[in-house]
Amino acid sequence: MKIVSIKIKNYRVFENIEIKNIPAFCVMIGANGTGKSTLFDIFGFLRDALKNNIRQALQIRGGFNEVVTRGKQNEDIEIELKFRMEILSTERLVTYVLVVGQHRQKPIIKREILRYKRGEYGSPFHFLDFQHGQGYAIKNEEDFKSDEELEREEQQLESADILALKGLGQFQRFKAANAFRSLIENWHVSDFHISDARGSKDALYAEHLSPTGDNMAVVAQYIYQEHPEVFEEILKRMQARVPGVSKVEAKNTEDGRLILKFQDQAFKDPFIDRYVSDGTMKMFAYLILLFDPKPHPLLCVEEPENQLYPSLLQKLAEEFASYAHRGGQVFVSTHSPYFLNAVPLDSIFWLIKDQGITKIQKATDSETLINLVEAGDLPGYLWNQGWFEGVAP
Ligand SMILES: Nc1ncnc2c1ncn2[C@@H]1O[C@H](COP(=O)(O)OP(=O)(O)OP(=O)(O)O)[C@@H](O)[C@H]1O
Ligand SMILES: [Mg+2]
Repeated sequence: MKIVSIKIKNYRVFENIEIKNIPAFCVMIGANGTGKSTLFDIFGFLRDALKNNIRQALQIRGGFNEVVTRGKQNEDIEIELKFRMEILSTERLVTYVLVVGQHRQKPIIKREILRYKRGEYGSPFHFLDFQHGQGYAIKNEEDFKSDEELEREEQQLESADILALKGLGQFQRFKAANAFRSLIENWHVSDFHISDARGSKDALYAEHLSPTGDNMAVVAQYIYQEHPEVFEEILKRMQARVPGVSKVEAKNTEDGRLILKFQDQAFKDPFIDRYVSDGTMKMFAYLILLFDPKPHPLLCVEEPENQLYPSLLQKLAEEFASYAHRGGQVFVSTHSPYFLNAVPLDSIFWLIKDQGITKIQKATDSETLINLVEAGDLPGYLWNQGWFEGVAP
């Protein structure tokens, strides 16, 4: 899957934005409070809404009135995602629309649509369309020839704050809903905490790093056992980046738990994860995440530069980019010119806030930036020198 455009209305600082032609690797820059975290939270919001319901997804963010753009309390929150996705072996340009409003002080889903074109021409067809908990989904999406043969299945959802995607997406017969639901479930919005990654863990099976990183030892062991060549590569990179680190191992403790041990070549006994440095833990976590043999369809990471030595950031940026090229779309926010130096100009988005409302611009909207980079300047230096300030209106 690849998201190609995002439209947002009335979600916190985003009163009305549209980002088009989104590349596989996106890097967001902008002053504090311009909305980088908010943009990633849109993905988290959809995931939470799918897991529970809209009311709960809003509640953990302070409720509808807190989330809706200030001064727009009487309007709806609208999210529209366009993405390329394979449905029954055919790539489709799919649009998902979600309109959330309030009814008698309670948040409800006013409209939810999933649509795509069946052929080159013609207007897109609604394969799922719900209003206030009632609507339909098409159950013979791919085997009909004309619109008359479409089989609609009318449905009433349990309540108007549940996504139809959640209710119907679990059924195989609703192909588009089913495929999109499973994609959202596999989005990874990182909320890594070094402290969670430390300490012994029950050796429960896991193939992917959790958002907080609390299963890092388990995933490291999985990669070591099932993908030894990948683990070897991760180790090689750790050795090159963190002075002294010669080996990392996931070790079973006597009570059947797992712990990470970091060997420093200068000493005989390794250090357990509790006692290695923050940056060592962080770098290992990124390598485990980015060398994942099965990339997430969407990966969001905030300020990966934190705790890391500046000269490591170029390689890290390249690793994020190659993850995106392996098939997982990547969104990163950064405050680091070192990181940005290694990012292609057409991956860079610039957030500007004016009177409490944010606009998003593409670095490649500016001829000046394009020319300067072509002449050999690096994006991070240009950013430091203020060249991004006047990107096209
Ligand atoms: N309902 C709302 N309406 C308008 N603005 C809001 C609303 N809720 C939050 N905000 C603003 O949105 C900003 C959130 O910004 P966010 O955390 O996304 O910034 P950021 O770009 O990640 O900043 P940083 O670089 O500091 O991490 C807050 O500073 C707040 O002022
Ligand atoms: Mg932030």
